[in-house]
Amino acid sequence: MPTLDMKTLPAIFPLLGLLFVLYCLWGVLDFIWFHYLRPKSYAKFLHGTKPYALITGATDGIGRSTAKVLYAKGFNLILHGRNEEKMKQVVEEVKAVDPASGLDAKYFIADVSRSDIDFRGIGRHFEGLNITLFVNNVGASFPNNQRIDELDEEFITNILNINARFPFFLTRAFLPTLRRTSRSGPVEVVFVGSFAGDVAVPFVSPYAGSKALIKRVSRILHADERVLSSSNLSFVYANVGEVQTGTMKVATALARPHADDYARYLVESFGSGRRSVIPHPVHHIIYAIVTGMPEVLADYIVLAEARNLFKKMEESKKTR
Ligand SMILES: NC(=O)c1ccc[n+]([C@@H]2O[C@H](COP(=O)([O-])OP(=O)(O)OC[C@H]3O[C@@H](n4cnc5c(N)ncnc54)[C@H](OP(=O)(O)O)[C@@H]3O)[C@@H](O)[C@H]2O)c1
Repeated sequence: MPTLDMKTLPAIFPLLGLLFVLYCLWGVLDFIWFHYLRPKSYAKFLHGTKPYALITGATDGIGRSTAKVLYAKGFNLILHGRNEEKMKQVVEEVKAVDPASGLDAKYFIADVSRSDIDFRGIGRHFEGLNITLFVNNVGASFPNNQRIDELDEEFITNILNINARFPFFLTRAFLPTLRRTSRSGPVEVVFVGSFAGDVAVPFVSPYAGSKALIKRVSRILHADERVLSSSNLSFVYANVGEVQTGTMKVATALARPHADDYARYLVESFGSGRRSVIPHPVHHIIYAIVTGMPEVLADYIVLAEARNLFKKMEESKKTR
């Protein structure tokens, strides 16, 4: 076996340099392909009789905007929210996007912070429908400035229920229906995640931990469907940076699009064939930079950005 000595060592550096340059070039080309050149593939989920997209947390923010985009693209909808009055308004708003389409928009109501949800009952209620897209969007983080031993147990449980338990068990309840639908065409389950699941944002460990959990669950469910036979049922984790929404009431910026703009990118990422996507190009660049740098530096920058964001949110609360 060849051994490394002080003479051969310098010869390796140009090779390592070349490999690094090729790796970076691959990243850039892949970025351009994914965001600007790739044929958009959400339309492949418009198959069979009356295709439905189910979206949780659809009464505000990204969920509501995604519902409008998907309705405009020809999907019937099953929406979820916790407030029936707000939901009825959203259904009207969604139908107004294309009043002549004759598309259906159903809904169900559930407070997903609760621990006593009848998941099987919800699954059974919609089992006869041709659901081809399943968007686990509901999520909430409640920015605060307390550590976990200063938060009460119920508060933490609610966050875990909203962000981890609900998407996990709701997906489980719908799997038989989604598997059946996938026999006649592609079906996708989307888990709407957060950069918080990958970086060290302070004070949000129950939320961030939940997002990290669904990221892993999403990947494994995809493998589960393929371990014994081929499958048309795919799972994808959509990693989200800052978006101006009901929760994130901070001015829009290049890196913080409005939910309506963001939803177009999200929908265009459906059916890409990838297991994890960053739908918005500016978020993608930020993610690549933050996760590509040494951890200690990334933590320092995220901490500074978090301080800044908490300050802005406090200011916006005062002016409301
Ligand atoms: N906005 C961001 O910057 C950002 C960043 C990273 C990740 N994300 C992720 O993107 C997804 C959507 O976030 P968003 O910013 O669009 O949120 P949002 O504007 O606050 O909307 C959240 C939706 O979830 C519903 N919801 C919240 N708590 C609920 C509960 N206990 N039971 C039932 N429904 C509940 C809300 O209902 P109501 O209308 O009744 O409030 C609303 O429909 C979440 O998974 C979030 O983690 C967002």
